[in-house]
Amino acid sequence: MKLVRSIKEMAALSKKYKGRGEAIGFVPTMGALHKGHISLICRARKECKIVVVSIFVNPAQFGPKDDLKRYPRNLGADTNICRREGVDIIFSPNREEIYPKNYKTYLAIDDLGRVLCGKFRSGHFRGVATIVTKLFNIISPDFAYFGQKDAQQAIIIKKLVRDLNMPLEVKVLPIVRERDGLAMSSRNTYLNREQREDAAVLYQALRMAGVLIKKGSRSSKEIIRRMRLMILKKKSARIQYISVFDLKEFKPVKRIKGKILIALAVFFGKTRLIDNMIIKA
Ligand code: PAF
Repeated sequence: MKLVRSIKEMAALSKKYKGRGEAIGFVPTMGALHKGHISLICRARKECKIVVVSIFVNPAQFGPKDDLKRYPRNLGADTNICRREGVDIIFSPNREEIYPKNYKTYLAIDDLGRVLCGKFRSGHFRGVATIVTKLFNIISPDFAYFGQKDAQQAIIIKKLVRDLNMPLEVKVLPIVRERDGLAMSSRNTYLNREQREDAAVLYQALRMAGVLIKKGSRSSKEIIRRMRLMILKKKSARIQYISVFDLKEFKPVKRIKGKILIALAVFFGKTRLIDNMIIKA
């Protein structure tokens, strides 16, 4: 396994693999790898000759009040995981390599970036789209792997690839959960014991919504009300949003019909966690 720091070296390696007709599978990450990332790496390993994992904490997707400084960084542990999982290349450039002095270009995401998380994290998806586009340009993957936990991110990146005619396929893999249902996230490490226990309520609330819908409930307002009540029973929980979205239009729905996405963001102490579930009415 190679640890590559420079764009030039990464691009040259990709060119060599492509020249040999070897498919490149790419897993973009910000490090602090967990089982969610490992599931993406395993799939890439199965499907592609070459597996590249990027590790880069992207400042452009953090707002001034976000956790850029305290975001967990552990290249040593991440390297061990990647080696064990058979990764060929870790691409881990430093900030100046990606955003040199006088860097000026960012991607604008339309309305898709202004709802759900985008409503509360202004500029977040602009930063995500920019770094992902840069990484795609540097690595030229055939396949890129993302987790369903960041549902809105996955939708935006699929759209980005289609809209900008990028020659690769985006694959979105299911959420990997802890035993009690909490979705795996690098940010789970911030939680203290009480917050960690409380956070399991997110999955319980999503499952309850699924049961209500299966039983015939069709009002988003009512589903959200029931979810709020359940989540707010936990002392450390503060809800930022719970939304029911039509998956085709990617717009909020009042009456539930067909396939919908229930997405939420909830703070436990200072830690903001997101989760979601796709449910068919
Ligand atoms: O999902 C993440 O970890 C990040 O948003 C990504 C896709 C690596 C871009 O920085």
